[in-house]
Amino acid sequence: MKPSILILYYSQTGQLRSILDSIFSGQQTACDIDILEIKPRVKFPFPWKAAEFFDCMPESVLQVSEEIEPIPFSEKKYDLIVLGYQPWFLSPSIPFSSFLKSDAAAFLQDKNILTVIGSRNMWLNAQEKTKEQLIAVNAKLVGNLVFFDRSPNLTSILTIIRWTFKGQKEATKRMPEAGVQKQDIENAKRFGDTISQCLLQNNLKQLHEKLLAQDGVELNPALVILEKRGIKNFRKFAPWIREKGERGQEARKGRVTLFSRLLFVGVFILSPISSFTASLAVLFNRSKLMKEVDYFKNIAYREKAI
Ligand SMILES: Cc1cc2nc3c(=O)[nH]c(=O)nc-3n(C[C@H](O)[C@H](O)[C@H](O)COP(=O)(O)O)c2cc1C
Repeated sequence: MKPSILILYYSQTGQLRSILDSIFSGQQTACDIDILEIKPRVKFPFPWKAAEFFDCMPESVLQVSEEIEPIPFSEKKYDLIVLGYQPWFLSPSIPFSSFLKSDAAAFLQDKNILTVIGSRNMWLNAQEKTKEQLIAVNAKLVGNLVFFDRSPNLTSILTIIRWTFKGQKEATKRMPEAGVQKQDIENAKRFGDTISQCLLQNNLKQLHEKLLAQDGVELNPALVILEKRGIKNFRKFAPWIREKGERGQEARKGRVTLFSRLLFVGVFILSPISSFTASLAVLFNRSKLMKEVDYFKNIAYREKAI
């Protein structure tokens, strides 16, 4: 019998869907593949208005669930479940974490899970939170693939701002296309062969190792430091904003605006200093940091890793 795979994903703009389609494009004959989408009851806007965008930070970081549409799971016994998601504010996106925290996530119990992340470039805390939820429902993480924008950090921030708030993904005269590079999406096909071979040989134990050998997870050490700094601040601001009310409520607008301004200062004014101190930390703490990089590239879980 062919191995069976369920792909379950959320994608707002379709970027992650195109990554998943590419990974599995050559596997239709080798495997039996079903695909299901996580749909929030109330759609998130795209392009975003700045106020609505920043207003998502507290619920993303604190993983406050919102309603999602029922997911029509079948009775099939899947050999592998692929979970496709993206980070929002260094945390699993609200629709994806709402699924992980819902009763529907019981479907993942005792299943082998491959996570596929489509990010700008900061996904470490999101994956740690996802690992925690997978442990909570007794699912087994057997692999992870990460897709990210290879442009320099500041360039990727500028292009994602253009994409997020104006809907313009395409390159302009001065700036490249936003998001994961087309070439990386195209080359994702190579992972599909590895996944189906491991399934056919009943060898999921080695899946992640094989994906790593194909550069399935690349990680710049400086981003470990920057992400740790970022999430520390978000964790302070999130409950402080929620003291004033729920997502969308007028009463918290002032605090959300202040957060967005401070984030702007952090990203555009302090960022060069922050990147410089991160590079120094990479130089002086290299061996400790490389252990961290190794941990984040792998699928084991350690409490409070970030
Ligand atoms: C509200 C919001 C917050 C985001 N925060 C992050 C982040 O913290 N780290 C990151 O690498 N990408 C971040 N992104 C980019 C997304 O992870 C993702 O790459 C992009 O939204 C496209 O994904 P899609 O497949 O859902 O369209 C954010 C996007 C949105 C909309």
